[in-house]
Amino acid sequence: MFEVKITDRFNLGDKNFLITGGGCGIGFACAKAIAQLGGGVAVIDTLAEPVEEFHMLGKRFGVKTSFVRGDTAAGICIDEPLVEADWEHSQRTSNVNVMGTFWTIKLLAKHLVDTKTHGSIVTIASLNGQGVYVPVQPCAAYNASKAAVKGLMGPLGAELGEHGIRINSISPGAIQTPLLKRLEGEKRAILDFYSDGAPLQRLGIPEDLTPMVCYLLSDAASFTTGADFLLTGES
Ligand SMILES: NC(=O)c1ccc[n+]([C@@H]2O[C@H](COP(=O)([O-])OP(=O)(O)OC[C@H]3O[C@@H](n4cnc5c(N)ncnc54)[C@H](O)[C@@H]3O)[C@@H](O)[C@H]2O)c1
Repeated sequence: MFEVKITDRFNLGDKNFLITGGGCGIGFACAKAIAQLGGGVAVIDTLAEPVEEFHMLGKRFGVKTSFVRGDTAAGICIDEPLVEADWEHSQRTSNVNVMGTFWTIKLLAKHLVDTKTHGSIVTIASLNGQGVYVPVQPCAAYNASKAAVKGLMGPLGAELGEHGIRINSISPGAIQTPLLKRLEGEKRAILDFYSDGAPLQRLGIPEDLTPMVCYLLSDAASFTTGADFLLTGES
């Protein structure tokens, strides 16, 4: 029987990946992890410049890298109690997190279908998108946007399967990134809630997520699509 080596199934060499919002935070950690596994990485981010380490990935891991400044999917979160909700803020949250994700998937999938190329897409939903009440963080528009990202996975997994394209989301708990920095100081109670309330009793770091992202991108996950994976430090 033909035997496939397990390490080969995790290898991302000879493949290229587009990472929206990969200029810092979780997106950059994913770019670095993919590069370590041999994949080429192209990042689109609203930042003028990615974190400095991005420029070293190509040389360090012998892969192709590129950075383009642009407004795409990625993700934003604005804390705002419902009764103080601002139309512009809730619309921006929906535009970036939902429409941006949907249209990035659409354009990428169209390219893959047109060129008859197989592929794997990973989106970032959230613990906040699971419909649970998080008493200390009033950001219902964000939570709803992340539930929508998760909700896209099943239908799109079914639509894209026949083209050899898989799509899955991850739902992280609180991860220490620039996004969470805004919660230090006055909003510290939110961070304490997320770290002390979780069985693992700590906040996550981007590197807690990258093995799952790389697994889903790789051939090791060839029978997995349309699903959401919790990485929350909770059961
Ligand atoms: N940090 C967390 O605790 C956490 C938890 C669950 C889910 N998430 C999700 O993970 C994703 C990444 O979060 P993060 O914590 O790394 O955030 P971050 O703010 O640290 O990084 C997000 C990156 O996206 C870029 N970006 C923002 N809007 C953009 C746009 N319209 N077009 C292109 N780039 C844009 C930013 O410049 C930044 O580089 C988001 O979707 C977020 O909602 C984060």
